[in-house]
Amino acid sequence: MINIDGLSKSFGSIKALDNLNLNVKKGELLGIIGPNGAGKTTAIRIICCILKPDHGDVMVDGYSIHKDPLKIKSIIGYLPEEPNLYERFKARDLLKYFSELYGVPRADINPRIDELLELVGMTHRAEDRINTFSKGLRQRIGIARALVHDPKVIIFDEPTMGLDPATSQTIRHFIDQLKGDKTIILCTHYMDEADQLCDRVAILNHGRIRDMGTPHDLKSKVHADIILTLRVKNPLPSDQEAISGLTSVEAIEIGGDKYIISLNSRKEISKIIDVLGSRVLAVNTKEPKLEDVFISTLENRGMR
Ligand SMILES: Nc1ncnc2c1ncn2[C@@H]1O[C@H](COP(=O)(O)OP(=O)(O)O)[C@@H](O)[C@H]1O
Ligand SMILES: [Mg+2]
Repeated sequence: MINIDGLSKSFGSIKALDNLNLNVKKGELLGIIGPNGAGKTTAIRIICCILKPDHGDVMVDGYSIHKDPLKIKSIIGYLPEEPNLYERFKARDLLKYFSELYGVPRADINPRIDELLELVGMTHRAEDRINTFSKGLRQRIGIARALVHDPKVIIFDEPTMGLDPATSQTIRHFIDQLKGDKTIILCTHYMDEADQLCDRVAILNHGRIRDMGTPHDLKSKVHADIILTLRVKNPLPSDQEAISGLTSVEAIEIGGDKYIISLNSRKEISKIIDVLGSRVLAVNTKEPKLEDVFISTLENRGMR
């Protein structure tokens, strides 16, 4: 559905995108995760025909950004990082305005707006002005706005940034509801969000894809089933050797009094604690998360 081919873009001496290649399949929800400045927004603005690349092309549903930008704009719904929502408009009037701008047939406008207000749970606020809305409510209207022309492709740029956890969860639920029917790109630097929603995830840094796969595949690259973190009183140089000698230990990283131990099974946890005896002050175990993959991907390439 979306084929990104060799995109490069520089701003002065900053290389925002460096030969970016990426394909998004029809009906897929692809996550692009990356730290601030990785190039996510630049890539999206090029796909949405707001910005021109220095090199490369993007095809959306068979149309090229160079030849058919207007066609592509009609196919894509875009929720920018900071949507401009015309503060003085009432919610319904704003959606009407954008429906007309996108050429939605007149007879379809009102039923479509009712459906969208319902989708984002804003029916009861339809006649209120945007400038009376909280950030979370604005984001809901931003999503409705991106959907007025019933686009095949939807692109969300950091849709939950700066929102509280409960509101973030509501926004994620809306995105989840669109899955399957639409082809979606979700840019985020929240790993849990990517893990929860995405079919595949691309890790972007310095304008290039560093790794890519399903959240499950990416997590299985962390060679551990369990990560044990210990806080240890009076750490000894001999601890590292004693612990890494155990068969289930894949790796051990010691920083001050904090020991991070990657294990391929839980069965030797008590042995490790025995080695350290009463010097163990705190114990924590967790399964590897997408965040661990992300950090190790960036670390391995010396990118942090
Ligand atoms: N209009 C611009 N002018 C100058 N530099 C820019 C502009 N847009 C982005 N950049 C730079 O390009 C790099 C990538 O930015 P961006 O695509 O916004 O990253 P992300 O969305 O992943 O945080 C950053 O170093 C950023 O400062
Ligand atoms: Mg951005």
